[in-house]
Parts: sequence; structure tokens; C-alpha cells
Amino acid sequence: MNDFLGILDTGADVLARLVDSASRMKRDRHRHRTALAGRRIGLFFEKPSTRTRVSSEVAAVEMGAYPVVLGQHEVGLGTREAVRDVARVLDRYLDLLALRVFDHADLVEIARYAHAPVVNLLSDLEHPCQAVADLQTIAEHRPLDEVVVAYVGDGNNVCHSLMAGVAMLGGDMRVVCPPGFEPQEQFVRSGGDRLTISSDPGAVEGADVVYTDVWASMGQESEARERAEAFAGYRVDGAMFGLARTDAIFLHCLPAHRGEEVTDEVVDHPGSRVFDQAENRLHAMKAILLELLG
Ligand code: CP
Ligand code: NVA
Repeated sequence: MNDFLGILDTGADVLARLVDSASRMKRDRHRHRTALAGRRIGLFFEKPSTRTRVSSEVAAVEMGAYPVVLGQHEVGLGTREAVRDVARVLDRYLDLLALRVFDHADLVEIARYAHAPVVNLLSDLEHPCQAVADLQTIAEHRPLDEVVVAYVGDGNNVCHSLMAGVAMLGGDMRVVCPPGFEPQEQFVRSGGDRLTISSDPGAVEGADVVYTDVWASMGQESEARERAEAFAGYRVDGAMFGLARTDAIFLHCLPAHRGEEVTDEVVDHPGSRVFDQAENRLHAMKAILLELLG
């Protein structure tokens, strides 16, 4: 694997290895203390982040690497400097470039101009590092080739990476979204017969995992009101979560907008695994860094 831009262009074997490796990292957190000694890792954020920023920086430090964290206010990706020039410059200093951007095309351009591996820390298209942690968290509950995952909400970046990953590793994926907010076609096709798309929240019935994400992603704030209307019947509340198996778990990439896409009752439910999931971002990031630089 040269870059990690999306789940769709990661092979099932590599993805399964990343999930296994993340689980091993969790069992023995300090085993790889010097694995990346002397390596320099760039972490760039064009939009806000808590989990991704902290888990990536801590992952780098716990493996002996040196993280350099950069924000859009200083780099001016595509404004102060052309995207390809930023890529060529950072490539001279750093061994790996990990970036959170609005436009996935910017990541593709950076990967084209940088020799160093490029990692997607969330774009408008995918959130692959999140998906590795999601799959790790799901595997802590059910074998991935037996699980039924219901994603309710916007067919967005998080949904794309999750649906591709679950189907790729042999699980059944049900995506439930209001008409007009379905995931992109290439992700739907990738799921084959392991994937169903529906606008009926009743599709949550009998699921092992119920997952949701915000209705308006970063960059879509101006659509928030209109989206809130379209998604009104898609809030994961106690009644909807109750359609899933009695031992089902609830996942959310976070941050959650409590009271919008999910109620307090579900986030704080004994079946909620959202904080294990957030923790797993650290272990997953270590697995990704080791795969690319080890
Ligand atoms: N889940 C996630 O990526 O969180 P942050 O936006 O806080 O990094
Ligand atoms: N879909 C959300 C995920 C945040 C982690 C967004 O893109 O803002």
C-alpha cells in the first residue's frame, strides 16, 4: 500500500490486516515504541478535528515518530500556495503526509506530486481511518463476516468508507437515508449483494450494529436547516435503536449533535460503544502508520 486515500481503493486483504493490527496495538499499546524512530509525519487540517488530530499525533509519538501539525490558516492550501507546490515542498521534509481536506481531489493531487505516502484524514468523499477503527470496534462485538450493520442518515464520507469496509470484509450493510441523500453510486456498487439501500428506517430491525453521523457535515453548515427537515424521521432514538437486536451496539464517529441525529438516551445507552470507537482511532492510526512506514 503506497497511500491510504480511501477504503474503496484498499484491497480486502490490506483492510483485514489493518483491522487485525489495530486490535493487536490495543492489546499491547507500547510494543511499537521505536518502530517509527526518526520518521517525520505531517498532519494537516483544513477543518476542525479533535479525535483525528489527537489520535494521529499521539500515535506518531507512541511509535517514536515526530509529528508536525499544520492548519490551513498557516499553509493556505490552494490559496497561499498551489496544492501541488505544497505537496512537493512538504515531501522534501516529511516521510508521510496525512491531511484533512474539503475536496478529495486535493488529496489525489497531493498523492500525485508527493513521493511520501499520503493518508486521508477525512475528505468530502471518505473517512478511511475512521472506518478502520469502526471495523475494529464492530469486530470487538461480532465477527465481521457475520455482522449486520445498519447505517441511518446521510450517505456521506463516513457512510462511504464504512459501507465499503463492512461489505469488503464479508458483513451485511443496510444503508437507510432520506431520498436524495443516498451514498454515491461507486460505493453502492462496491457493496454488491451484501449491501441494501433504503429510505425505510424499519430496515434497522434485527441489526447487530446501528450507526449514524451528523446530518450536515463540516462545510455544509448553511444547509443545516433544510437537512434537519429532510432527516426528521431518521433520528436514532430509543424506539429506532429498539428495532435492532436486544444486544445491538450503537456507533457514531463523533462529534454527535445530541438531540439531532441521535438522542442522549442512545449515546448514553449501555449498548453505546462510541467512546471505545473513539479510543480505537488511536490503535487504528498506529496500524495505518506502521503499514505505510514500517
Ligand atoms: N471522528 C472524527 O474524525 O472526529 P474529529 O472530527 O474530531 O477528528
Ligand atoms: N461527516 C462528518 C464527519 C466528522 C468526523 C463531517 O464530514 O463533518
